[in-house]
Amino acid sequence: MSFTVKEISPAGAAEITNFDGRVRINDEDMARLRDVFQASPILCIRDQTLTPTEQANFSRQWGPLEKQDRSTFCHPDDADILILSNERRADGSQVGIVDAGDFWHSDSSHLEEPCGITMLFAVKNPDKGGDTHFINLYQAYDALPESLKARIVGRNAVHHISKTLNPRVTVSSERLGAAEYYKSQEKAKKPISQPMVRTHPVTGRQALYISPRFTIGIEGMDDAEAQPLLDDLFRHMFSNTAWQYTHKWKDGDLVFWDNACLNHMAGGGYEYPDTRRMHRTTIAGQKAFYRAS
Ligand SMILES: [Fe+2]
Repeated sequence: MSFTVKEISPAGAAEITNFDGRVRINDEDMARLRDVFQASPILCIRDQTLTPTEQANFSRQWGPLEKQDRSTFCHPDDADILILSNERRADGSQVGIVDAGDFWHSDSSHLEEPCGITMLFAVKNPDKGGDTHFINLYQAYDALPESLKARIVGRNAVHHISKTLNPRVTVSSERLGAAEYYKSQEKAKKPISQPMVRTHPVTGRQALYISPRFTIGIEGMDDAEAQPLLDDLFRHMFSNTAWQYTHKWKDGDLVFWDNACLNHMAGGGYEYPDTRRMHRTTIAGQKAFYRAS
């Protein structure tokens, strides 16, 4: 396949055209795609027409898929596809997850082995809103003052799924039962340690690996010291739009990104009956680590 690659943001996004995701990728093309993905950890393949099974097949070529734990919202045609949507059925029930990713995060950093790559296929975009925002955390780390680097290199932060343990986030009132769910997770899930500076397993580059959504503390540090330090780090992360990219979706976009070196967030800004529907697959990652460069 002779596809075309074009950088669309210096924050690490590239667009691929003349590519058919339904066709099995040959070894040469896969090697080229993986090289592109190392340089641009946000890739958008335009103009795709993927059934759930075709999307799952495309995704599996990048590695083993994660099992989706919210089976209510898995696609009936392929259980590896999770539906993100604000659509409602005639009885008022929700078709997919409504408020997925409404705060900055790296996918499933609250797990021992966080997600590697996330893939979203845009089936239907709303007339307005629905953007996805990204921050390149290689770039944010590189620009971090040495004094701050020295305080976090080799240290672990504490990540947790429960929103009710995290004063930096709120629970959406649109999602029925969410407050009770997050309350129940406070004790049901154990806190997970993650390196604050993460060495990328493929590129070897260092990246900040914290997020407002999942990072709730720093291991071995009192909150009196840890919370202001996290505030400083988050302020730094959001201080420069040069590290940020906002994806404005077109129907048929297949966008995938590398969770080891990015934070992302769903921008919202649309309301039912203006509908947004995405099909998501996630590719397994590996335990995060820090290795001195
Ligand atoms: Fe996410």
